[in-house]
Amino acid sequence: MERISTGIDGLDAKLSGGYLKGKGILVTGASGTGKTIFALHFIYKSCLDGKKCILIATEEIPEDILYQGGILGLDLNKYYENGLLTIERVFESRSYQADQKKKYGFETEGLDVDLPNLTNSVPEGTDVVVIDNIGVFTLRLTAQDFREQFDVLNYTFNKKGYTTIFIMDDTAYNMTHRIADYSVYGSVKFVVKENPYTDKMERYLSIPKMRSTDILPDVYKFEITSEGIKLNKP
Ligand SMILES: Nc1ncnc2c1ncn2[C@@H]1O[C@H](COP(=O)(O)OP(=O)(O)O)[C@@H](O)[C@H]1O
Ligand SMILES: [Mg+2]
Repeated sequence: MERISTGIDGLDAKLSGGYLKGKGILVTGASGTGKTIFALHFIYKSCLDGKKCILIATEEIPEDILYQGGILGLDLNKYYENGLLTIERVFESRSYQADQKKKYGFETEGLDVDLPNLTNSVPEGTDVVVIDNIGVFTLRLTAQDFREQFDVLNYTFNKKGYTTIFIMDDTAYNMTHRIADYSVYGSVKFVVKENPYTDKMERYLSIPKMRSTDILPDVYKFEITSEGIKLNKP
């Protein structure tokens, strides 16, 4: 199976060349652990390689995402302007919907997005999809409903050949009993924790699951620098 670069130095080598093309990866972690930046590396490298990307963003506006990329050496402006990168503003629809509800006292039809509906947001010919963050779609779902919806979405994206990063915040991930792990091809977890010897906070990522890939269940320490995520040498 074809591999596609993660965009992070040193990580492709650990993954026998990168993510599997057309498969879904789940990225989980608490707020501020580095999930969005991790996905921006993937988008940036994919755009560099001429792949058509879409970022479905629920928490940030495109301007903020582009700015964050820019200060980390991941300048996506050119690709956003020439259309290789689409940023779908689910964040704004959500705010709009809440606003309409307040104004008129009822849900505005057509704006309520459920997980499988996200397929309609992805244009033809897309190679890479990042959804940041699927947690917002789980708030009104039981764990079972979430599992069903997520399976449908993941299956549809597989069929269409999209290589996908599903970002999910730890709160939603734990609320749905961590079942999102079962549907996906691979899973990457982010944590920030204190080093008991130095009392300093440190960043780690681990890859507990990557099907079809010979990978040790290791934990990798990393830093976020002005050039983005830098894995510490093993
Ligand atoms: N230029 C930078 N230099 C160092 N650290 C940065 C820089 N920009 C962002 N960060 C760190 O990245 C964190 C946010 O990462 P992000 O990927 O947005 O987290 P998440 O998506 O998991 O909430 C910030 O809290 C900050 O600590
Ligand atoms: Mg984020």
